[in-house]
Amino acid sequence: MNILILGSGGREHSLAWAVKQNPKCDRLIVAPGNAGIAGVAECAALDIMDGAAVVAFADAQSVDFVIIGPEAPLAAGVSDALRAAGIKCFGPSAAAAQLEASKAFTKEICDASGAPTADYARFTNAAEARAYVEAQGAPIVIKADGLAAGKGVVVAMTLDEALAAVDDMLGGAFGEASAEVVIEEFMAGEEASFFVLSDGKNILPVGTAQDHKRAYDGDAGPNTGGMGAYSPAPVMTDAVVEKALTQIIQPTVDEMARRGTPYQGVLYAGFMINDGQPRLVEYNVRFGDPECQVLMMRLGAQALDLMLACAEERLDDAQANWANDHALTVVMAAMGYPGAYEKGSRISGLDNLTEDSLNMVFHAGTGIADNHLVATGGRVLNVTARGATLAEAQERAYRTVDQIDWPGGFCRRDIGWRALG
Ligand code: AMP
Ligand code: GLY
Repeated sequence: MNILILGSGGREHSLAWAVKQNPKCDRLIVAPGNAGIAGVAECAALDIMDGAAVVAFADAQSVDFVIIGPEAPLAAGVSDALRAAGIKCFGPSAAAAQLEASKAFTKEICDASGAPTADYARFTNAAEARAYVEAQGAPIVIKADGLAAGKGVVVAMTLDEALAAVDDMLGGAFGEASAEVVIEEFMAGEEASFFVLSDGKNILPVGTAQDHKRAYDGDAGPNTGGMGAYSPAPVMTDAVVEKALTQIIQPTVDEMARRGTPYQGVLYAGFMINDGQPRLVEYNVRFGDPECQVLMMRLGAQALDLMLACAEERLDDAQANWANDHALTVVMAAMGYPGAYEKGSRISGLDNLTEDSLNMVFHAGTGIADNHLVATGGRVLNVTARGATLAEAQERAYRTVDQIDWPGGFCRRDIGWRALG
């Protein structure tokens, strides 16, 4: 079958790498892709936010199956356009993508399904929001309702910080996305991510992971899109997974179906776990980046079979076969990230690396200039490894990191510390 993946990051490189290994995959196209993805797939220029353009491209190239990587095309209805044209697609409808695109919507779904989450209130009026914050006290969490490129959440440890965030967001900091705010109870505990496929009715867990949000070692520095991840997450014990599935995930999927907007795709749940009880922090409607890289490393070629079963609504007889192993990925980012950083710095040393089912360097933001690999983004490479233990996966990943010659880049040296410590 001919397969098209939409996106250009490390997530999409790992998806392409896994899909390509499956004998069902004849031709693989990634739009727009990047310099690393070009090693496993054809890359095509295409406006992935434009549903009609994606449909026309898929028709012209006889594409049988489209996998949508990032949230923006999902929220923009690209999967709706594909399904309307009779093209099979992995990724939720725009209506179901509200689970990521609107925090207030997710809270409504939690209320309706009884899923454990933080107490909250919603505001569009700054004076009312300020009064609520003053009555609740700090710590407290202020969230822009809509998509704000990962910057729409302020975990305020003081009242002043909280009030400033309210003024900022309702004052238009993120435009339409922060015209409404959700103000939430601060939840203490350990965070973990859980990835579950849903075909609209049936669910199938495909892995747990933990991310590292802060830029520097010891969880210091500014928030980022994620500086590294590993799977599985030890805090997601069988008992926690069971609670997550029965109290949060299945009720969400049931409520979405009841509303006539069934959720089909991967549901990425962020949990806060305290005393063995998971509570929902947020949903995303796509794979995490870089969490996807460790999941794909562990799932390999079967990832395609599972995504197809999801799109064909037959997850009830699908199964994920796990090796009892661990995977870890280290993000190499351009110096300065997540602030201002330079583009175009040269990266060497990748040509001589071993790339196999245990070691892979996924590209997140690379291009070619003057016949040389260069950085084109903030997060640039995802050095990923598998091992029988997490320690072994970590050692393998950093051994590869040390072979890469990139003076313009940096990475954390402590990915995995929480699970290894
Ligand atoms: P988000 O952008 O929704 O992923 O939120 C960013 C981060 O803010 C999460 O990963 C959590 O670390 C933190 N966070 C969000 N909501 C809460 C909450 N209610 N209590 C504590 N931390 C939170
Ligand atoms: N790594 C966090 C995310 O993909 O949202």
